[in-house]
Amino acid sequence: MPATITSIAHYFPPDVYPNSYFEQYLDTSDEWIIERTGIRERRFAKNGATSDLIVPAAKLCIERRGIELKDIDCIIVATVTPDYLFPATACVVQNKLGIPNAWGFDLSAACSGFLFALVTAVKLVESGGVRNVLLCGADKMSAIVDFDDRAQAVLFGDGAGVALIEMSEDPELGVLDHILHIDGEGGKFLYQAAGGSAKPASIETVKNREHYIHQEGQAVFKAAVKGMADVSVEIMKRNNLTNDDVDWLVPHQANLRIISATADRMGLSMDKVMVNIDKYANTTAATIPSCLSQWWEQGKLKKGDKLVLASFGAGFTWGAVYMKWSL
Ligand code: ACO
Repeated sequence: MPATITSIAHYFPPDVYPNSYFEQYLDTSDEWIIERTGIRERRFAKNGATSDLIVPAAKLCIERRGIELKDIDCIIVATVTPDYLFPATACVVQNKLGIPNAWGFDLSAACSGFLFALVTAVKLVESGGVRNVLLCGADKMSAIVDFDDRAQAVLFGDGAGVALIEMSEDPELGVLDHILHIDGEGGKFLYQAAGGSAKPASIETVKNREHYIHQEGQAVFKAAVKGMADVSVEIMKRNNLTNDDVDWLVPHQANLRIISATADRMGLSMDKVMVNIDKYANTTAATIPSCLSQWWEQGKLKKGDKLVLASFGAGFTWGAVYMKWSL
């Protein structure tokens, strides 16, 4: 019997920043941003930390499932913007929600964070080690974005998606296959240089703006197009899925051009692709669960639908998951 997603919810902070916000102080334009990325607006949290994005989504997710806090066994937080380097944001979330009997940890896989954490949670549940996992994909990207760099300021947003992972009641439905990869060679193209043990925070690191994202956009773009498309096609092939069989591609939302290229390689029309980058930009670990939650809320995602989830991110990290939706 596979494990599956038995509840889902998301949260975006209320403050909307349209592309025109950046036009006021950067050499950029609404047209450039839309054409090169597909992004029209994003949300930034004015206050609080990543855990504060998770808490409302987690409360809704738990309420929708109708279970009690004492029955949650494990909390995993996928994020690259933890509240602190330590303790884990999972501990902060546990405390803020008042979950009494759980263990948990954070998982760092950047934009692939939700996929890596989903597979981890599924394996934990399927092993019988825990009954369920509260799986949180969340990032407060505004905490690490360099707002003076037009090549990154416009790309990101803040948000959270939370799913509950439990055993499926139907052997046909749930997470059925996965392919995950890492390649540290790609690390040099997308990273946060300082603040870790390699380069502890100092006056110099702050002066050199080394606590912000460093991204070589084109190198990441090329690797992302290939990585996400290859792995999505591979998971289709080994599960004997044609393009007609796939109901939804649920891609990480980094750039609409990367998403379209992946859909193209899979032979899917864009009406079978979940896209929320236009309204929320790249929310890193929150993109995939927030899409699932929004599509499910709107009644567009139905029980039995065949989904390919796909991601590419810093590390490099990338992968795909094949699942049949069970809600
Ligand atoms: N407005 C106007 N011009 C801009 C902007 C902007 N906001 N940003 C960059 N430019 C300029 C550049 O300075 C450059 O100008 P130049 O030719 O005078 O030097 C020109 O536009 C072209 O720059 P490119 O970087 O080649 O632009 P590109 O078309 O590649 O788009 C982008 C840049 C959007 C960043 C793209 O490369 C991309 O999406 N990369 C992948 C991002 C990604 O997938 N990240 C992984 C996930 S994130 C994570 O894991 C945390």
